[in-house]
Amino acid sequence: MKNESIYILGIESSCDDTAAAVLHNGKILSNVVATQKIHEEYGGVVPELASRAHQQNIVPVVHQALRQANIDKKDVNAIAFTIGPGLMGSLLVGASFSKSLALGLGIPLIEVNHMQAHILAHFIEAEGQSKPNFPFIALTISGGHTQIVQVNDYFDMKILGETKDDAVGEAFDKSAKILGLPYPGGPFIDNYAQMGNPIAYLFTKPKVGAMDFSFSGLKTAILYFVQNQTKLNPNFVEENLNDICASIQHTIVSYLMDKLKNAVKQTGIKEIAIGGGVSANSGIRKALQEAEEKYGWKTHIPRFEFCTDNAAMIAMVGELKYRNGDFSALTISSKARMPFG
Ligand code: KG4
Ligand code: ZN
Repeated sequence: MKNESIYILGIESSCDDTAAAVLHNGKILSNVVATQKIHEEYGGVVPELASRAHQQNIVPVVHQALRQANIDKKDVNAIAFTIGPGLMGSLLVGASFSKSLALGLGIPLIEVNHMQAHILAHFIEAEGQSKPNFPFIALTISGGHTQIVQVNDYFDMKILGETKDDAVGEAFDKSAKILGLPYPGGPFIDNYAQMGNPIAYLFTKPKVGAMDFSFSGLKTAILYFVQNQTKLNPNFVEENLNDICASIQHTIVSYLMDKLKNAVKQTGIKEIAIGGGVSANSGIRKALQEAEEKYGWKTHIPRFEFCTDNAAMIAMVGELKYRNGDFSALTISSKARMPFG
């Protein structure tokens, strides 16, 4: 089975992106994502609306992925789909569709852990991708996740630390909301931050375990800070937006870097791979580049389309599992929460 030519169709529906992708022997042929705009007006993902949008999007998205890959559904060797973690209603749409398609085509079904997929996205063969060597440290940072993992092999992973409350992307987005910026606010904070002074205002970094994270206290600190300053000067936010954003970003980025340094110190591993939507942040990218020069780290950031929620990463894990003959029964059910393995 090892050298067989295989096509994997990946399907992702864990949150608010409906995605499908085709991989041929690890090489990306198509990667289609329908991002649900409906949530913008609510300032966050509304689970009920997400499930409905997945139902509307999933058939056209899969069609488009097959068309762009220039293959017929009969060419697909297996269907890989996200079993969890994620929003239950959203997961159920992807699972039900994947099961029916696998059954109809008479091909294997492969369940994929979304968090493992974010990490294994580094192994997708595409221009601009650099594959990390085992063992490495993975930092997954997005609107839904904040996790540090020691990766010894494709399916030998150990969580070293994770968030105790909000995800880092939420910290960006909630801070942006306090400042009156649109949702999702992470990219806006990043933009303004690049024109501001990162040490204009000081926010205390939350204290939890060496490799764990907490962001809810930071959000509250920013809220009180803005409320107090606005009482003194109603135009405080407008007049100081760049400096406020730069200070928030600096606090979050140096907090992430502190945790990575702790992970490197504890494990002795200096190869770092990051993923998730927040990997787009210019501050974290710059900090990682500096750490390469200063501490001799080797860092990897996937192409942006493989950082945010996507189905190429699901297909990648699907291919690795396919080669191991690791298939799923049609009776398996979605899991809102799930550990690795
Ligand atoms: O991975 P992703 O697309 O979706 C999930 O959360 O699953 O990540 C989206 C998150 C949002 O919170 C968004 O604000 C954040 O990534 N984000 C950024 C930047 N670009 C996206 N945060 C900070 N700086 C950015 N440049
Ligand atoms: Zn994700």
